[in-house]
Amino acid sequence: MAVYRPDAAEARKVYIETLGCQMNQNDSELMFGLLAQEGFEPTDDRKDADLIIINTCQIRGNAEDKAYSYLGAWNKLKRKNPDIRIAMAGCVAQQTKDEVFKRSPFVDIVIGTQNIHDLPNLVRKAFSTDNTGHVMAVDKQKARSTYDYIADIAPVRQSKTSAWVTIIEGCDYFCTYCVVPYTRGRQISRPAASILDEVKQLADSGYKEITLLGQTVDSYGKDFDGQRYGLAHLLEDIHEQAPEIARIRFMTSHPLDLSDEIIRAVADLPRVMEFIHIPMQAGNNAVLERMRRGYTKEQYFDLMDRIRDMIPGVAISGDFIVGFPGETEAQFQETLDAVYRSRPDACNTASYSARKQTPAGIWETKGEGVISEAEKDDRLQRLNAVIAEVALSINQGYADQTVEVLVEGKSKRQQFDRWRGRTRTNKVVNFDSPVSGHDFTGELLQVKITGVGAWAFQGVHQPADQTDNPAIATATAGA
Ligand code: SAH
Ligand code: SF4
Ligand code: F3S
Repeated sequence: MAVYRPDAAEARKVYIETLGCQMNQNDSELMFGLLAQEGFEPTDDRKDADLIIINTCQIRGNAEDKAYSYLGAWNKLKRKNPDIRIAMAGCVAQQTKDEVFKRSPFVDIVIGTQNIHDLPNLVRKAFSTDNTGHVMAVDKQKARSTYDYIADIAPVRQSKTSAWVTIIEGCDYFCTYCVVPYTRGRQISRPAASILDEVKQLADSGYKEITLLGQTVDSYGKDFDGQRYGLAHLLEDIHEQAPEIARIRFMTSHPLDLSDEIIRAVADLPRVMEFIHIPMQAGNNAVLERMRRGYTKEQYFDLMDRIRDMIPGVAISGDFIVGFPGETEAQFQETLDAVYRSRPDACNTASYSARKQTPAGIWETKGEGVISEAEKDDRLQRLNAVIAEVALSINQGYADQTVEVLVEGKSKRQQFDRWRGRTRTNKVVNFDSPVSGHDFTGELLQVKITGVGAWAFQGVHQPADQTDNPAIATATAGA
């Protein structure tokens, strides 16, 4: 029988598998923080864990399937070691609630997206000797939001350089294909004072970059009563009050909320990066209307032109869905045209996946306008080819330029002294440095771009003045 011992000599271990968007990644960091207070240490090896959590995504059928395939494998672990506890968190948990226990009875804990602060309590119950049944918290707090609790949670963050800062919970848009308003609830903006506190703490702890997160981050503050404090003001306040944060980013923007005020803030504030993620979703007006996106393709193109006029050198990325119910080949062709016209730097693309709780999902169950999987795959491939072609042609403009790169760590290929970072415009750069034996993680370096692809660059670090560089100065002094 597993006994819960927060003060046990040997710390218990927790493994979290995170699926889905950055908001889930941030929630996992908060869960690690809450569990650290309970004496749990993170582990990278699920076989070594006392508690295994899957933080789930429901955006498309394959994301949901993935969650259950992980659970299937973990069931085998639990059969070998009945003392472990298994939890499901995130959007599938929020949406399917106790159905999870019916489908996977070996799951011990179900915790919804608005109940993260209940995790310690649930974990204590699940490990207690007198309660080996199922425990669940999925009820949204009516009077309080997660933000009332966030101040008490010290997240355990993955990166020491870049931090996620969630500023909006939920979404009010109800696009006809999307589960997010159901899994994350209605929009609640986090009070600015709470955000500024967290950002200042991050600055004090040496973080160089923050990304403000929300499903429609540019609608920040619209739900504040009678106040006119929005994302532009928040960016200004962060810029002024946390000058140590070298790079400020925000995502995802909705085309209807990206005001000139916000665009001007990006243009005017040097530490706000000239990069905007702003999905178009489709290039045909009838499809956009049936998606309930609230804009026409012409309005989207005008917005792109305004952004590019106001922010020199800006990079823009987006998302597209292919095979939305009823999308004809001619309508899909307009999405290809829209890529050539709007010239995104990068895009996430996906085949439409029917989600049964959404209006479009209900059309699909009635058989209305269903596009075959083969046709969706074919459209997706054609769209990805056009996006890659446009991305490569944009990226050619970077060749031989020297750009500022924030170093995230060693390059994935682990070659000796090969580093990985991003440009201000969010392009990935793998580069070599003439300086060896120095850890550049978290530093801003000048890097000359020597090779470009559609999705990543190659480069060489250009130390400005060799004597300025601590590693070289030490090497020289010792020589
Ligand atoms: N709030 C953001 C997107 C959130 S979801 C926005 O409004 O743009 C992330 C992406 O998943 C979406 O941009 C969309 O392209 C994709 N997506 C959402 N629901 C989907 C579905 N049912 N099928 C396929 N892709 C979907
Ligand atoms: Fe989903 Fe639309 Fe909200 Fe984005 S704006 S999260 S696509 S409902
Ligand atoms: Fe997925 Fe939930 Fe994010 S459905 S995309 S994890 S908000």
